[in-house]
Amino acid sequence: MSFDTALTRLLGIKIPVVQGGLQWVAYAELAAAVSNAGGLGIINALTQPDPESLRQEIRKTRSLTKFPFGVNLTLLPALNPPDYPGFIKVIIEENIRIVETAGNSPGPVIKRLKEAGIIVIHKATTIRHAKAAIRLGVDVLSIDGFECAGHVGESDIASLILNSRARQELGNVPFIASGGFADGYGLVSALSLGAAGINMGTRFMCTVEAPIHPNVKQAIVDADEHQTTLILRRWKNTSRMYSNSQTKKAIEIETQSVSDDFAQVAPVVSGAKGREVLLKGDIEHGVWYAGQVMGLIHDVPTVADLLQRIEKEALGTIQKLSKVAAHITPQSKL
Ligand SMILES: Cc1cc2nc3c(=O)[nH]c(=O)nc-3n(C[C@H](O)[C@H](O)[C@H](O)COP(=O)(O)O)c2cc1C
Repeated sequence: MSFDTALTRLLGIKIPVVQGGLQWVAYAELAAAVSNAGGLGIINALTQPDPESLRQEIRKTRSLTKFPFGVNLTLLPALNPPDYPGFIKVIIEENIRIVETAGNSPGPVIKRLKEAGIIVIHKATTIRHAKAAIRLGVDVLSIDGFECAGHVGESDIASLILNSRARQELGNVPFIASGGFADGYGLVSALSLGAAGINMGTRFMCTVEAPIHPNVKQAIVDADEHQTTLILRRWKNTSRMYSNSQTKKAIEIETQSVSDDFAQVAPVVSGAKGREVLLKGDIEHGVWYAGQVMGLIHDVPTVADLLQRIEKEALGTIQKLSKVAAHITPQSKL
């Protein structure tokens, strides 16, 4: 048995598992390992300091895999925005076939990518945003449930409901279930809800190839599903983080501050400090993304072992379920 879904067919991959476009984690080594193992690896554009560095990272990924991979382009409001036009130019010049977009006001970016004939996967945390992205011409939606690491949105709808809503509302546009997935059982549940595959973020942080400090991987292995905290709700930028002394501090400021001034909380939630956590392994140094799915993660396998395991679990579960259905025949008596 092997997988045959709208996602495996469209992207030319073997296993319908996409690696999240993880900031400060999704470099060439991880993305290539995922693509080599049959999934879709993704490198994160904004993890590169400038467009030319992205070009080098794309070329490095190509040297490490002959299989399809994508680039994540996350559109965040910023006082000094990254050089988005430059990143898009490099993506097109380097003949990238798959781009995952995320974030605000993606219209002009999606238009440009579609004009270049690129397959666009867009991330959404609500059905309303997913439908708007379809009107913009995206090929695939990645539906991020409330369980997910990082930007959960402001609606708090978990994957079980959100993906069924996607099946009901998105017509023939394929969608990927994201948020809370770590194994083959989750993959089968996503397929049964109507998804064409899954996206995994936190799970891929906990692999041999993820270029982050072993202390962070161990913290994820040691944590359970309770150890995440939502911060920045007050600023409508709700983010799910690993619970630590810094998320506690951020929540204190968020709930006690009399002003709405983001500057008060900014030093505590600094992205630069979060990056240092991943690099140096002091898990209390800053805030860093992790999802509730930590409760399902108990080891640090190679990407190849992880994807083989997921494939085996998923296909085995599908077989088991088909036996469950076989018992419900017209002859069977209750
Ligand atoms: C360390 C880390 C960094 C992330 N950075 C980004 C990012 O830059 N852009 C983005 O679209 N999603 C980002 N995400 C979200 C993931 O792509 C994915 O949607 C999420 O992890 C799925 O939930 P899960 O962790 O339960 O699998 C990040 C997640 C993690 C864990």
